[in-house]
Amino acid sequence: MGSRIVATGRATPRTVITNHELERRMDTSDEWIRTRTGISQRYTLCTGESLVEVAERASREALARAGMKPEDLEAIIVGTVSSDFGFPSFACQLQHRLGLTSIPAFDVAAACSGFIYALSVADATMRAGEWSRVLLIGADALSTMVDWNDRSTAVLFGDGAGAAVMVSEPGQRGVLGSILRSAGQHWDLLSVRNRGIQSPIDAEARTNQNDAIKMKGPELFKIAVKSLEDITRRVIERAGVTLDDISLIIPHQANLRIINAVGERLGIKPEKVFTNVDRYGNTSAASVPIALDEAIESGRIHDNDLVLLNACGGGLTWGANLIRW
Ligand code: ACO
Repeated sequence: MGSRIVATGRATPRTVITNHELERRMDTSDEWIRTRTGISQRYTLCTGESLVEVAERASREALARAGMKPEDLEAIIVGTVSSDFGFPSFACQLQHRLGLTSIPAFDVAAACSGFIYALSVADATMRAGEWSRVLLIGADALSTMVDWNDRSTAVLFGDGAGAAVMVSEPGQRGVLGSILRSAGQHWDLLSVRNRGIQSPIDAEARTNQNDAIKMKGPELFKIAVKSLEDITRRVIERAGVTLDDISLIIPHQANLRIINAVGERLGIKPEKVFTNVDRYGNTSAASVPIALDEAIESGRIHDNDLVLLNACGGGLTWGANLIRW
């Protein structure tokens, strides 16, 4: 018995912030942001909005497409580092909004790799026969954790949520394998203290800047490229397939230069790599499921295609999932 994604959904906050809007707020330029990152705009949570509400919309969309009701679910797993509370978890808040009362609901904290990690946990538990219908979410709001005076981080992040409904199923289709890695020795390349600064772009109050996201961008860039190349090769090799067999790679959408550098090192054609970082920025754990949902919607994934998901983020953490669609 394996696990298969049968439907996906996505949702974003209402407010779009373009690079030109950022030009008015800080010493940056549309040209710098686009050439260094590939980002043109991002969605950001504003005061009064909640990320759980965004995740609920993505969840209900995925459930409707799966032809299921919330009551059909047996577990909820959320890849996130953006819960409003230290506890309860984001997953418990989402469970409550979905009107569910007793199924297990928990978060997986792996920063930008959160969805990849959560998918691996769901697949392993479903293979063990514990659950047969799982709601998997990647949701983050890192824009609320940046110091809006720090142009080197403020331009990078956006907010959103992506959802996937997974079911247990016999047969050849579904998750073929996952590989996860962490390197805690590199914790200080990308970090935020406790629950972060929690300062939406429209907030008046500015809390302690030491509580904002801290990033060593150029070092992170190099390790991300190497790690993503390595994990992609490993998960493919372990499944006994080759890069040529892969129909589509859906990478974490952090930065177009990272995505292109990994693609070049793998020797994979750009048309086999899905990107939407231009419209979303880096939505952390939400980026892979949002991209997956858009890839499906735009007809880029067909039955029996081999699809590879990968991500790297704070921790450091990284990982990949290989799926026979
Ligand atoms: N606008 C204008 N200029 C800027 C901006 C900005 N927003 N940000 C930095 N600069 C300036 C710097 O001050 C510096 O100026 P200087 O030369 O006068 O000192 C110059 O641009 C170059 O700065 P670098 O940091 O060396 O620029 P780099 O080309 O490395 O790009 C970037 C920075 C985009 C952050 C890059 O390092 C990167 O993408 N790193 C990976 C970070 C990342 O993606 N993090 C997300 C989470 S991790 C992950 O998901 C993989």
